[in-house]
Amino acid sequence: MESNNSRIAVLYATAQGSTRDIAEYIAAGLTARTAQVELADIEHAPELTRFDAVVLGSAVHDMDLLPEATSYVRNHREALANLRVWLFSVGLGPALRGPVGRIISRIVPPKIAAVRDSVAPRDYRAFAGCYPRENVSLKARVLYRLMGGGRYGDLRDWAAIGAWVTAIADTLQLPHTGDVIIHPS
Ligand SMILES: Cc1cc2nc3c(=O)[nH]c(=O)nc-3n(C[C@H](O)[C@H](O)[C@H](O)COP(=O)(O)O)c2cc1C
Repeated sequence: MESNNSRIAVLYATAQGSTRDIAEYIAAGLTARTAQVELADIEHAPELTRFDAVVLGSAVHDMDLLPEATSYVRNHREALANLRVWLFSVGLGPALRGPVGRIISRIVPPKIAAVRDSVAPRDYRAFAGCYPRENVSLKARVLYRLMGGGRYGDLRDWAAIGAWVTAIADTLQLPHTGDVIIHPS
């Protein structure tokens, strides 16, 4: 039987902030389910021995997690092996649509798969992030369109993230409190 006040570290690596927002939302959701949650940038992560579980997330750049996330996992492999770990990434794959997009969105880039397999998480989820149109070259826009992309801006799916938080909390047998968490966008 799990403790009703599981101690959970929610760690994130972000370049432009959208992964941090998602981590904050996850932390708020788990807190609402009575967990004792510490939220931290992965480069300022607390000592892991104080926790029962870790939710670790990173933005995707160039089909890889951010380097600070990959090196954190490499440097804390033993500590992570003693904990229940949930892993998420934030990129554009889950925002792709149509027959091509559906195929591409199911592919986990090899470098991310290697990190995932090294921590053997309870679950790994790829969430859609943000894609501001103004930063994208014409070439990249054409490629994105061919892959099944077309939507720009804030593509985060808060319902999907919320459902994942519920699944984590249920796995940890945290009590339901009925609190509703408002997402940041
Ligand atoms: C330099 C750069 C490279 C990126 N490379 C990828 C990529 O290879 N695959 C992907 O799905 N998304 C990629 N993205 C999109 C980001 O993952 C997405 O914008 C995400 O929301 C960024 O998270 P952050 O705001 O926490 O930094 C890239 C974004 C940037 C700025």
